[in-house]
Amino acid sequence: MIVNFALSFIFASLALASPLTSSNPLGLGGQFDVFARNVAISSGCSTTGTASCHNTSAVSNTCCFEAPGGLILQTQACARFWDTDPSTGPSNSWTIHGLWPDNCDGTFSENCDPSRDQSAITSLLESAGATSTLSFMQTYWKNDPDDGSDEELWSHEWDTHGTCYSTLEPSCLPSGSPSGTDAVAFYETVVRLFQTLPTYTWLANQGITPSSSTTHTLTSLENALAAEAGVTPMLTCDGSNLNEIAWYFNLKGSIIDGTFVPIDSPEDSDCPSSGIKYPLKTGSPVSTTSVSSTTTTTTTTGTPTSTGTPGPLPTKAMIVAIHNGAQVGGLLTLGTWSTQTLATMTLAGSTSSFTMTSSKGSCGVSGGELTCGSGVSATSFTAISSGGSLLLASGGSTAFSSSAVPSGETVETVFTGSGKAQTYTLAIVST
Ligand SMILES: *[C@@H]1O[C@H](CO)[C@@H](O)[C@H](O)[C@H]1NC(C)=O
Repeated sequence: MIVNFALSFIFASLALASPLTSSNPLGLGGQFDVFARNVAISSGCSTTGTASCHNTSAVSNTCCFEAPGGLILQTQACARFWDTDPSTGPSNSWTIHGLWPDNCDGTFSENCDPSRDQSAITSLLESAGATSTLSFMQTYWKNDPDDGSDEELWSHEWDTHGTCYSTLEPSCLPSGSPSGTDAVAFYETVVRLFQTLPTYTWLANQGITPSSSTTHTLTSLENALAAEAGVTPMLTCDGSNLNEIAWYFNLKGSIIDGTFVPIDSPEDSDCPSSGIKYPLKTGSPVSTTSVSSTTTTTTTTGTPTSTGTPGPLPTKAMIVAIHNGAQVGGLLTLGTWSTQTLATMTLAGSTSSFTMTSSKGSCGVSGGELTCGSGVSATSFTAISSGGSLLLASGGSTAFSSSAVPSGETVETVFTGSGKAQTYTLAIVST
């Protein structure tokens, strides 16, 4: 199956974060290309199979199925690294801690392959052409200065946790991949996933912002985040101060380019039930100008394959739903799913970043829900080539779901991810 693997060089196809719309306080609206991942490595793995930790018998190909570490946590720091003066990272964002592969029962392994440890992460990413990933990391992946440099944190996270991913084993990478490609893919995925998890913005949307005086109950924090994300994360406190969050996932396919399936935290939060402080952070809010807008492209050796090389984006298209392998209706002008006459959408941009507009207005994702209309702020979507179709993706994921399958006159709200009962993909069909 390794013959299927090849390096390809799709720009940014998976780097975008749907929740980072033009209305969010990170101020990243319209700037998605700034964070484009400029070298994408294709695993050749399907993303439609069983999610990690959901198999009922042994899966033999652990290049395309994450095991044993299939319970994946994206951890973000808040006060943990904020108690220094000045504190680290933008004042209007949490920062990346890591992406950890727990075993399905919550136990975990660490330092799985010291022969693949990396220390010079900046030069590794630069030589791989992953400069936009690097510049994002320089802003959002910060060490506590008392503990060491950012580079030391990045290196520690790869050595300790990254080397434990089965899907990043060197034998799973395209043949001829330069040494360190496994780590580059890890950093790109950590950044891509973090961009879909704007914890600060989600709390702010629910009226919860840092304060030196306000206190919160654990339930109110968990409910606010669940309302935005559709799943409940695990919160960690240091005394009464909120200081870490973990967002949990299972994975379909490879860490390199698989689909992260959000799940409720299997662990209880480690915070008091009330009296929780969300501490103020010194420092400046990030603005788009503080992040390098240089987009460097690098060609790599290797043969592009048909998988992962999206065709051109049509300018007019119907969005058709594929449910259990069959076409079942598609999107109407309000962005809902129905078997009635489908809307003709206008697509502007490229497969790596485009906006979608119906006759009712812009289409956007807010709180995990897709809508189109005059008051909707446009989200940047991507299109991913799969099995000969071009699939709509939000935050790098092609999974959409609704509570029920529509028939006749019924319409269903479309949610990003596979959190609702009926999961499907949305194919872009040129009209
Ligand atoms: C799932 O697959 C992994 C990898 O082959 C295996 O170790 C694990 O035991 C399987 N789980 C079940 C429940 O069979």
